[in-house]
Amino acid sequence: MKPRRTQNLSGALGAANFLIHRITERIARSLTYQGRVVDLGCGNAPYKDIILEQADEYIGVDWENSAHDQSQVDVFADLTKEIPLESDWADTLVSFQVMEHLPEPEFFLRECMRILKPGGRLYITVPFMWRVHEAPHDYFRYTRHGLEYLLSKVQFEQIEITEYTGFWQMFVLKFNYHSLRYAKGPLKYFWVPIWLLNQTIAPWLDRVDRNPNEPVGYVVSARRSESNSHSKAKAA
Ligand SMILES: C[S@@+](CC[C@H](N)C(=O)[O-])C[C@H]1O[C@@H](n2cnc3c(N)ncnc32)[C@H](O)[C@@H]1O
Repeated sequence: MKPRRTQNLSGALGAANFLIHRITERIARSLTYQGRVVDLGCGNAPYKDIILEQADEYIGVDWENSAHDQSQVDVFADLTKEIPLESDWADTLVSFQVMEHLPEPEFFLRECMRILKPGGRLYITVPFMWRVHEAPHDYFRYTRHGLEYLLSKVQFEQIEITEYTGFWQMFVLKFNYHSLRYAKGPLKYFWVPIWLLNQTIAPWLDRVDRNPNEPVGYVVSARRSESNSHSKAKAA
């Protein structure tokens, strides 16, 4: 199956931020999906085809307030409340760029723990240096230490947290988003070559000058233990 492209290069926004789509698509391709995969906060499900290259089943979950196209949503649910999915049901959970939108992240992670089968894996991505988006439902930015604290509290194990850029890609994306203000009408033709050049150079700069303290965001991989029960997780 040919994956849908997740990047849209048409228009000023597409030219200014194609790097973030490349980064997030690369992350989605780097993960291992097994069995039944539930995508919590799926939006327009940009990674569904990538996930289905490995998984048996894909279920997209999002809420009715979503600003995104809802045609790929299989289950409508508010992730701030109990999620209407059975316990011990999913082999893999993914939630890409969603937890910053949830006012009670610990409650959400407990729900993830409940829905996952023992031994199942959770993948989360969250922004760190990123502008406010989907306001007013944009509540938090996480550091790796905050993520580790929350996941450990809910008793996830094998927690791995990785910065998905260094400083340079973060800086270039911030610069490009900001410069969109000045790219109206014919001025766009001034900015487009700058955006194309800086997004081409930034990944290389991040390789030679890696600063882990100012990433765009983090990718998290964590596992539900084979043995822990929901009651044990709730009591923590
Ligand atoms: C930044 S978008 C990410 C969408 C998709 N995961 C992606 O990577 O393209 C955040 C998503 O979280 C969803 N979301 C935010 N708050 C939610 C809530 N309380 N319940 C369910 N979904 C929520 C939004 O509707 C949106 O689809």
